[in-house]
Amino acid sequence: MTITTCVFDAYGTLFDVTAAARIAASKDANSAFAKNWPRLAEIWRAKQLQYTWLRAVTGEHTNFWDVTQNGLDFALEALSLQDNPDLRRRLLQLYWELQAYPEVPQMMQDLKANGMQTAILSNGSPDMLNGAVNCAGLRDVLDGVLSVETVGVFKPHKSVYDLVGDHFSCLKEEVLFVSSNGWDAAAASGYGFQTVWVNRSGDPMDRLPWIPQYSMTDLNGIAALACAD
Ligand code: LAC
Repeated sequence: MTITTCVFDAYGTLFDVTAAARIAASKDANSAFAKNWPRLAEIWRAKQLQYTWLRAVTGEHTNFWDVTQNGLDFALEALSLQDNPDLRRRLLQLYWELQAYPEVPQMMQDLKANGMQTAILSNGSPDMLNGAVNCAGLRDVLDGVLSVETVGVFKPHKSVYDLVGDHFSCLKEEVLFVSSNGWDAAAASGYGFQTVWVNRSGDPMDRLPWIPQYSMTDLNGIAALACAD
């Protein structure tokens, strides 16, 4: 079916979640942190996501800012960096100003030039998403910034994906959902969206009951795919 609506995951898909640790490390090249920032970024992200899943299955919802801080505190302690409040403060501040991947502005402009509806659908709280969208200058190319806070449960709960149809009054099959999180793209396929998994690091496919229709290594091919017919 013809795609009318392109919906993007935020963190890791439009916004580079490793940027906070990378930028903080570049400011202090001789520190212990400068050597192991990639490990910190990896643990931080893994724990942040695990906590979203655990909160979703136990019904103990909190907002994404809380789990982002919880994940960071775990990661800092895992690397014996917990006694550095300045580093913690700086990393959290940078999370509000994450850079978009370089191809994002052009892709969004191409989608809008072809009459596509566009949105973010994210675990992020509205204030976090507004910060990132404004920082990346994407406000004018988005028709919606949809947060799980509306339904009070994290992805991949079905009610999160329902937010797209509620907002745009479109059919599931008209939606191209794009995520760098394999589990998110897979779950969205199971929900009924057309899906792209943006696999920047060559990860293996998640072993889940559903598979994304398309895989790409970055976002450069999204507009051509979405506007193909
Ligand atoms: C999001 C997380 C899953 O933006 O990356 O929803």
